[in-house]
Amino acid sequence: MNLKKLVEKKKINTGGHTLTFTRLNSCDSTNNYLRRNLTKMTDQFPVGISSRTQVSGRGRDNRKWFSARDQGLYISLGFFFNKPQHLNMLSLIAGITLSETLNRLTGREFNLKWPNDILYQGKKIAGILIENIIKKDRIISICGMGININHLRSDFPDDLRRSAISARMITGQYLEIQKVEPHLIRLFFKWLEILEREEKTTIINTAIRMNCYERGEKITFHQNRKPITARFMEINPEGGIVLEKTTGEKVVFFSGEIDPFPQSS
Ligand code: BTN
Repeated sequence: MNLKKLVEKKKINTGGHTLTFTRLNSCDSTNNYLRRNLTKMTDQFPVGISSRTQVSGRGRDNRKWFSARDQGLYISLGFFFNKPQHLNMLSLIAGITLSETLNRLTGREFNLKWPNDILYQGKKIAGILIENIIKKDRIISICGMGININHLRSDFPDDLRRSAISARMITGQYLEIQKVEPHLIRLFFKWLEILEREEKTTIINTAIRMNCYERGEKITFHQNRKPITARFMEINPEGGIVLEKTTGEKVVFFSGEIDPFPQSS
């Protein structure tokens, strides 16, 4: 590794495991970095990679993630996941982690916009990009999380100004991002252990409490870019969303996106 790119390397105790944590000065995307160095990384799993900036930060659906230096927290966690039947719960635990982290930082409440966005008063403050590599005998999970921390409104590009928000815009305070990272990492692995102990109800109830939709609320849902007009009914015990179509038919989805896409970076 080019040492100029590396800011810090240390071990973080997550409760059950010791995580190898690396902070970079810059990279294309922390998810890409982890994936590119996968062989070396899996030897050290669990790992965390954060970067002060990302030159090609990625969002879902091939969108970009605005990743200005020291303004946001850009982190990817890599670990083995041995519960294939619960893969769709990973985005919920990442969402809960982000919402709780932000709550501790700001003292405010944050909502989960199923399945991958964190909102404050309808504006997007954090997002999740999970990429799983499914091997014959195990699943390698890369959980990328981005939080808008120190941005002022004028720091966001024009197309994000109305839909995005940062912790600093809420509290007026500048935060040292490296102080946030260990906290977020411990919370994530705490929730991962809860999932590994099969305590799904604890996770679902927490996600329901944070959920931003009312039962019966009219929404437009997209899967593979195909829109469906429906009413939001609930998050089911498996972490899927139950929608009621205009025909009255109930349908369950485990992936997709609800309009509007708040941070179409
Ligand atoms: C989204 O809301 O579309 C997902 C955003 C995910 C952004 C994070 S930042 C760290 C990690 N590296 C990336 O390139 N993306 C994720």
